[in-house]
Amino acid sequence: MVVIMASPTSSGLDGVVVADTRLSDVDGERGRLVIVGRDVESLAPGTPFETLCDALWETSDARVALARARAAAWERLPRVAAALDADDGMDALRGAIAQLPGVMDDPALVTAAMAVFAAAWARRRAGAAPIAPDASRSLAEDYLHKVRGEVATAAERDALDAYLVTVSDHGMNASTFTARVVTSTGSDMVSAVTAALGALKGPLHGGAPGPVLDMLDAIGAPERAAAWLEAELAAGRRIMGMGHRIYRVRDPRAAVFERALERLEGTGVSSGRLALARAVERAAEGVLRARHPSRPLHANVEFYTAVLLDTLRLPREVFTPTFAVGRTAGWCAHVREQRAGGRLIRPASRYVGEVAVA
Ligand code: COA
Repeated sequence: MVVIMASPTSSGLDGVVVADTRLSDVDGERGRLVIVGRDVESLAPGTPFETLCDALWETSDARVALARARAAAWERLPRVAAALDADDGMDALRGAIAQLPGVMDDPALVTAAMAVFAAAWARRRAGAAPIAPDASRSLAEDYLHKVRGEVATAAERDALDAYLVTVSDHGMNASTFTARVVTSTGSDMVSAVTAALGALKGPLHGGAPGPVLDMLDAIGAPERAAAWLEAELAAGRRIMGMGHRIYRVRDPRAAVFERALERLEGTGVSSGRLALARAVERAAEGVLRARHPSRPLHANVEFYTAVLLDTLRLPREVFTPTFAVGRTAGWCAHVREQRAGGRLIRPASRYVGEVAVA
């Protein structure tokens, strides 16, 4: 037997550049995120999701297009009803989005379908009938109404807009890469987005905010944080909402969400969890610094996502589906960009098996 030895692997593809993009840039050393040319900390407060969609998709009518597309997705709802029976929201979305026809090559249609299906799943889970979209509302305002069954205040709408804008794109993250790989084969936008949903679902990517809220509930009070976190690490588990592949400082999106939470508190909307979250973040930084002195581990986007979406009274099971709604805007933009300038993405593997010698 002969064992073939080839070049060393880069199993996590750290630092490997696979595309040129105009969509977003992540500076992990300085903790800076630029989305379509604007720093996220200046972009998110006050920018409606639709305006950001226009910038990502190079269109000028996203508000109208998304409103019309929500109506079209609503018409389609009975046909995807079986998929929305799933217990898990991401399973439901994966099944429902997969049923869209591959010829539906339109970012507004796919993004609106994500919002309508996610809201319908949340209602079904709560044992309630789905709520029809309202074209006079923005996507954020309409989404809050469709999930909660209550009309959103302007402050709540602005907070969800800030959330959706902030999570819309983030460099070559795992789900975006997935979407680009699928697109690079010549496949369609619906297939790319369906595959990306599978990547986003994982707890190392978009599946963390629900568990972050579970963690805050389990800790309960600031003085219990350090001991609880130590016990998690001792049990071999990771602290959800902490650490990042790219950021070596605090994720700038955490600060955006903290500011959004402060603005909500200023209008009397609070879950009472912000102070606890801040205390748990400080404690987590401390225990992680002690355990990994050479690897800076700070709060990532999911940490304050949990507090923000909870404050907006979205149930924790719909956190990752809501992330998917925002990120679909970015996925669709990447599909178009990949088509315009990319080649088939086809890396190599190193064979470490044996070869029979005749
Ligand atoms: N809790 C505890 N330890 C952590 C950690 C966390 N949240 N994040 C990283 N580490 C540790 C790892 O155990 C590893 O330690 P080791 O070298 O002793 O094995 C070291 O830090 C490096 O981790 P690694 O897995 O190589 O980093 P990565 O770049 O692949 O991971 C994440 C990035 C996001 C997957 C990781 O930080 C994580 O799992 N975070 C928790 C899940 C989460 O919040 N996901 C949402 C991401 S936006």
